[in-house]
Amino acid sequence: MAHVSVPSVPYTPQFYYVFQEPPSLDTARRTHEMTSAVHSWFDAGIPFFTMQAIRDVCQQLDRFNKNGRKILVKGLDGTMVEYKIMTGRKIRCFEPNREWIVGKPLLYYVPIQTLTSVELDNKPGVACCNLVVRYEIEVRDKYTKEIINDCQHLSFEEVQRFFVTMREIWEASQPCKQLRSMLASKRTQLKVTKIVSFACASVSHDHRSREARRAAFQHALILTLRDIFDKGRGKYNKIRCYAQDPIYTSVDKLVLQHFGIDVLDNPRGLLEVDDFSVVISCAADFCVKQIVSDLAKPAMMIWDRVHEDAEADETICGLPW
Ligand SMILES: C[S@@+](CC[C@H](N)C(=O)[O-])C[C@H]1O[C@@H](n2cnc3c(N)ncnc32)[C@H](O)[C@@H]1O
Repeated sequence: MAHVSVPSVPYTPQFYYVFQEPPSLDTARRTHEMTSAVHSWFDAGIPFFTMQAIRDVCQQLDRFNKNGRKILVKGLDGTMVEYKIMTGRKIRCFEPNREWIVGKPLLYYVPIQTLTSVELDNKPGVACCNLVVRYEIEVRDKYTKEIINDCQHLSFEEVQRFFVTMREIWEASQPCKQLRSMLASKRTQLKVTKIVSFACASVSHDHRSREARRAAFQHALILTLRDIFDKGRGKYNKIRCYAQDPIYTSVDKLVLQHFGIDVLDNPRGLLEVDDFSVVISCAADFCVKQIVSDLAKPAMMIWDRVHEDAEADETICGLPW
């Protein structure tokens, strides 16, 4: 039995998740025991996310990215949870003339709020496992078997032009000027070697949308920070910029690369975070702050919460993002 959850981003029909029904140990008591254990580990300051655990799952996913293989993840209580790779399987499709196939596995991070909740999707078998394997769904034409992507595709040149324009608007804006002046005095105190961004979203989707503008401004922010922290650094010692978001298209990757931002697959961005990083993560729909604060003490972190009512925000702020 597989669960399908709704897409987390409205403009990416491909971004559905499927995940395997966890082994049923079927006791509410065990779930309850686990949630109280999680509370006590949290109170004791035990980190829930570690580089080693994330790296281990990442390496297993690299090696066993085939149907029928298993990924073993150690739960917080030390027990091993087994995820069977389902890539390639056909699942129930709710669209006519199409079929849904389980795609590439994705590592999903379970926040403390879920681990300590008995009401949310917390099953005894995985009650203590905060690294979960989920999947993208590939949507295919039922007859030709061609992969369907409903998103509008923009060319490299179109996206590049859009990004350059948005970057100019951002650079001329008051918030950008404030940021530059605030960091002018702090720059040398902060030991920064890289900028790691999460969830900055796609710049290659419909440019009339607020989402694309926000994505462009957030990537422009990466370049502003690079410009600030690069000052005085030698030619061979430049600030490196990384971006992780599973939503990036091939055009996004090319455009970002063109501006010196390397796209890293989930979870390789997280594996880059250290005490000399600036971390950027606006309205991410995964628990970046919980993960990052367990992994490192970044020199700086910039974030924004997920806004419930984006349209209302736009009216209130009056800003283009
Ligand atoms: C609500 S959107 C926010 C987009 C943009 N930052 C903004 O402020 O409008 C959440 C973003 O988180 C991204 N995301 C989800 N899981 C992620 C992961 N594991 N790593 C990086 N980004 C992720 C999604 O693809 C999506 O682009």
